[in-house]
Amino acid sequence: MNGRRVALITGGSRGIGAATARRLATDGFAVAINYRERDDAAAALAADIASGGGVAITVGGDVASEPDVMRMFAEVDDRLGPVTAVVNSAGISGNKSAVARFRGDVLQRLLAVNVLGTMLCCREAVRRMSIAHGGAGGAIVNVSSMASTIGGRPGASDYGASKAAVDAFTVGLAKEVADEGVRVNAIRPGMVITDMTDEQRSDPDRFAVLCATIPMNRMATAEEIADPIAWLLSDAASFITGACVDASGGGFVVGQRQKV
Ligand SMILES: NC(=O)c1ccc[n+]([C@@H]2O[C@H](COP(=O)([O-])OP(=O)(O)OC[C@H]3O[C@@H](n4cnc5c(N)ncnc54)[C@H](OP(=O)(O)O)[C@@H]3O)[C@@H](O)[C@H]2O)c1
Repeated sequence: MNGRRVALITGGSRGIGAATARRLATDGFAVAINYRERDDAAAALAADIASGGGVAITVGGDVASEPDVMRMFAEVDDRLGPVTAVVNSAGISGNKSAVARFRGDVLQRLLAVNVLGTMLCCREAVRRMSIAHGGAGGAIVNVSSMASTIGGRPGASDYGASKAAVDAFTVGLAKEVADEGVRVNAIRPGMVITDMTDEQRSDPDRFAVLCATIPMNRMATAEEIADPIAWLLSDAASFITGACVDASGGGFVVGQRQKV
């Protein structure tokens, strides 16, 4: 692809998104770091990237809000040029409870952020990247989860379902735009050391039990997820689309039955 490479990373202020923004900036992308609340974290990351000679801007916005998503992409158009890569990393966990105790408002928010947000951002990406829409091509990576493959860990069936929707949408969209110069893939992390897993890591005994369910017996660093994301976006993955790539330390070891 000729011209400037521009990547928008949703949920780029922290965790996997932040590691991805850092990695893509190193790869030569001008990066747009989306955040919802933590403008401080996004600004610090952008400043750090700039101090290393990279190009980075921050764009606030809630991916569950269609007006916010449209404004975010328009802001990137104006400040960096149209996106050539999008990483949908913004995501939240859900009720963290048995289904009998689910709250409808929590479910709605979960699906709005993880599913609707991913779909809206993909729509805006395709409108800019697809050669059928006058674009020059590009690539998208949706951050799913291994939870989609097992119905979620105990108490996370809602989260697992939201990520299964991301997988299905990724495959469908990939086929739709495969001959329009746009590749769409998903990455399915296992458990990663980020703020999202703070709670699970706070109790050493619980942490050890969780690690024992992972064949590599440990959680991933955010960088171990960012690296395959960068690869999926790169020309090295030029014939890969519609794939859901597991980055999970070997998946899950089925252990003792757990109730929530
Ligand atoms: N950590 C894991 O073990 C794990 C495993 C599998 C999959 N994943 C998936 O990986 C992705 C990143 O997770 P993480 O562990 O990096 O999470 P994290 O450390 O909790 O960071 C979440 C990021 O998403 C942003 N965000 C949340 N809601 C948003 C919204 N409505 N609009 C825009 N941005 C929003 C946050 O912005 P603010 O900083 O402004 O709050 C933050 O940048 C998620 O999709 C998650 O489901 C994580």
